[in-house]
Amino acid sequence: MKPAVPFNDTSRIFRAHESELLEILSQVAASGWWLLGERTEEFSKNFSEFCGTDFCLPVGNGTDALEIALRSVIVNPKTSDEVITVANAGGYSTTACYALGVTPVYADIEPDTQLIDIDSLIRCLAPSVRAIVITHLYGGTVNIPEIRSRLSGTRYSSIPIIEDCAQAHGARFNNHRVGSLGDLATFSFYPTKNLGAMGDAGAIVTSDPDRFQVLQQLHQYGWKKKYDVGIPYGKNSRMDEIQAGILNHLLPYLDSYNLKRKEILRRYQQYNSDNISFLDYSDKDFVAHLAVAKVDNRDRFLSFMKKKNIAIDIHYPILDTQQNGWKNLPKRQDNQTGLKVSEASIKKVVSMPCFPFLKDDEIDIVCEALHEWQSK
Ligand SMILES: Cc1ncc(COP(=O)(O)O)c(C=O)c1O
Repeated sequence: MKPAVPFNDTSRIFRAHESELLEILSQVAASGWWLLGERTEEFSKNFSEFCGTDFCLPVGNGTDALEIALRSVIVNPKTSDEVITVANAGGYSTTACYALGVTPVYADIEPDTQLIDIDSLIRCLAPSVRAIVITHLYGGTVNIPEIRSRLSGTRYSSIPIIEDCAQAHGARFNNHRVGSLGDLATFSFYPTKNLGAMGDAGAIVTSDPDRFQVLQQLHQYGWKKKYDVGIPYGKNSRMDEIQAGILNHLLPYLDSYNLKRKEILRRYQQYNSDNISFLDYSDKDFVAHLAVAKVDNRDRFLSFMKKKNIAIDIHYPILDTQQNGWKNLPKRQDNQTGLKVSEASIKKVVSMPCFPFLKDDEIDIVCEALHEWQSK
């Protein structure tokens, strides 16, 4: 049975922009220039401007972006090299670490925001740490200036900070867009992201010209120029002209779509109670990529919503540290408190429908169900 309220429906964004998107598809097709063309160049310029950075490298997807970003800061990676990250963010940074053959180190998270706990991050520091990946999860923003000031004056002050902005396009911290807060930052434009393509796409932004040159080489085989390999461990990861054209078209709508997502989350938050509480971010400039709540009796909640025909999801059901496929691979975690909050949270988190084209009557259906649950 089709859900009365879908978790997402990307066909609605297509329909809202149908004539322009079809025009882009047909123009690119007819041009015969499908890769590394003017639309990709234009997107690179538009998106770096949007983020407040000097450079943007469009790539194939957000996981490649993380892998290439890590390779640009860890030269000749070894298993003993470590990268601090979190275990509750879907495993993308861990995937990138293992692609390089380096060891992920997991910091715990804050219970209220589900974002990295900065005290735990500091406890994870060691001379072997080569990079820190900060995920702005669910559209919330991590206080990177605080991380910087905690590192400054220590032996760790120059560890590169990579922002993973795949769930936070357009969010700001202290009026600076995410992407401009760290040393470099990665984005995914997977179709359901706040800025989504009609297929896979990603990007890396930075304001460091030397780093940008390295990134440019790494995304195409390590080429310094065509067929001339300048550095090792390059790969092929390129955004195509169709995706770039689509993203150029949708970028000007991003801020208004983010507002719509926040409005939906605000509606749901009215039903916060002892039974259910939606995450909130004291910083006003988050972007509500997902509407995530913590519920105590999640199994009962899931079957209650199923009966109501409301599609929901769990982001994420398994911590990176508990993934079977990574069981035998090297890892480390905060050795003082472990991952207590992360472990407790994955049993409670649940994501409710939240996308800009959710209809008013669908939002009402979710609110009615939340109201009913509130009094259970
Ligand atoms: C936080 C985060 N990082 C990285 C990725 C990876 O992006 P992609 O699916 O484009 O590889 C995603 C999305 O799927 C994500 O949510």
